Amino acid sequence: MKLKLGVLGSGAGSNMQSIVDAIDAGTLDAEIRIVLADVQDAKILERARRHSIPCRYLDCAPWKTKLEGRAEEDCIRILKEAGVDTVVLAGFMRIVKPGLLEAYKNRVLNIHPALLPAFPGVHSWTQALDYGCKVAGVTVHFVDAGTDTGPIIVQKAVPVLEDDTPETLHARIQVQEHVAYPEALRILASRAYRIEGRRVAISR
Ligand code: GRF
Repeated sequence: MKLKLGVLGSGAGSNMQSIVDAIDAGTLDAEIRIVLADVQDAKILERARRHSIPCRYLDCAPWKTKLEGRAEEDCIRILKEAGVDTVVLAGFMRIVKPGLLEAYKNRVLNIHPALLPAFPGVHSWTQALDYGCKVAGVTVHFVDAGTDTGPIIVQKAVPVLEDDTPETLHARIQVQEHVAYPEALRILASRAYRIEGRRVAISR
């Protein structure tokens, strides 16, 4: 079933780009109905415009770290008006609250640059490096009420190399992010999965 995506971001939008590329290549049955960013000059908006994808700045003031109140209401209204059935958080630097999660029950996805449940929160690749991990990676998961705690759809691992800096490790993780997000969305599009408690059972 063709997914009707709404993408929420705050930054560069490289993950959104990987989704656009997969759609253009015919490997993902989806369309991006709208892109919303909480940062007025975010590069993700520029990328959306370049691909003629409808996009808007979402004013989230006065909240700094959450999508709440009027901003949350606006967001849900815009997504619904655009006919979105699946919400893709792609570098969206805000905590989403129950309003959005109830409006899109089990249809909000996030990508996190770590092998969850290790290293939730910010700068997780630096945390992995500082911890002395030999393996790091990326997780695409459904969003629940916690922070980076929802059922896992796809994970990819990358090695941590002896001479890695936070930048080189993050760059290696991002290569896998761009594989993982389209892969997770293909699973959603196929409908060949069930959420069983906190496990996503996938039949391929
Ligand atoms: C990615 O590292 C993602 O895992 C994290 O935020 C970053 C977003 O990058 N949640 P981009 O905006 O998609 O390039």
